[in-house]
Amino acid sequence: MTPMPISRRQFVYAAVATGFAAAASAAPLVRRRKGYGAAVTLDDLQAEPRLAQAINQYCTEIVPVYELKWGPLRPSRDAFAFERADALLAFAEGNRLKMRGHNLVWYYGLPDWTKDIHSAAEAERELVHHIETVASHYRGRLTSWDVVNEPIPDWAPTPEARRDCLWSSFLGQRYIELAFRTAHAADPDVRLVVNEYDVEHVGPRFEKKRAALRRLVFDLLDAGAPLHAVGLQCHLRGATPIDRDGVSAFVAEMRGEGLDVYVTELDVIDQDLPAAPAARDAIVAAQVEAVLEAVTAPAPLDTLLTWGLSDRFTWMTQTLPRADHIPNRPLPLDADFQPKPFMATIERFTRAAA
Ligand code: XIL
Repeated sequence: MTPMPISRRQFVYAAVATGFAAAASAAPLVRRRKGYGAAVTLDDLQAEPRLAQAINQYCTEIVPVYELKWGPLRPSRDAFAFERADALLAFAEGNRLKMRGHNLVWYYGLPDWTKDIHSAAEAERELVHHIETVASHYRGRLTSWDVVNEPIPDWAPTPEARRDCLWSSFLGQRYIELAFRTAHAADPDVRLVVNEYDVEHVGPRFEKKRAALRRLVFDLLDAGAPLHAVGLQCHLRGATPIDRDGVSAFVAEMRGEGLDVYVTELDVIDQDLPAAPAARDAIVAAQVEAVLEAVTAPAPLDTLLTWGLSDRFTWMTQTLPRADHIPNRPLPLDADFQPKPFMATIERFTRAAA
């Protein structure tokens, strides 16, 4: 029996499951936007072929949700489990997508074995070893790395406030500069990012957090650390206004220092929004519009990622579910991969990919 010919499109998506890279597909209705991408997990890609199709249709970049975090990557002190992140990179490279890295250092989600770190020397050795090994493994293949994720506490009473974590408990806040220098030495061409959330809204908590992020950026620049961009996560709260003036002034100041500004994890928390889908989608799109207007006021964005693409796969189902148990709608495509007003807004702030 002769084997059935496999179509080019089937081959590209099949490559996700097998881990092989494939040539880009000429999918119908390609609407790829330059600089627009989405966070994705390997499990979701493998479970749902429409996800790969939608990524190919709209995106030019991906970022792994989990696969590069310490937990999945470091099952033990001696092991680096690169297979799953490598499979995502193969998917990206096989489909003419870029990939960014998230993240090298985060206070949250450390594997249990890190509890056995007991001295400053040991902490420094493990932190440097991790960053060197991971950044070297992907050297030259990623666009950017979130080197330090979420270094500012939720309540930052003064601009000097920094979040406590395992690394700061042994090394003090110098762990941040150390992380940037180590990443740069391991992959000199990748763009290095400090990534933070809850700096986009009106209110003292957001304003103070933004002031602390600003101070951290200036401290790093004053120290000559290799910092290239500030990532605004933009997990927006649906019912809290965006601080348009505060955000655009912040972005203008960062750009004035020669830094790039990325939107790295955009979605809208719809926990407290009306249940009716059309009303909810309109509010979600308006929040996105407000933040993108503010962020692009000084200069257009060249990196904009949403934390997922379709409402079918969103962290909110687990982390921020609605009290009425109706599914969350935080993302640009609905659960059936149809575009919502959110996607039209993204399309207004990005250009068609060449
Ligand atoms: C989240 C994932 O989406 C969840 O599935 C996981 O349980 C916890 O992490 N800010 C970040 C991301 O920088 O890494 C987080 O991702 C969401 C908030």
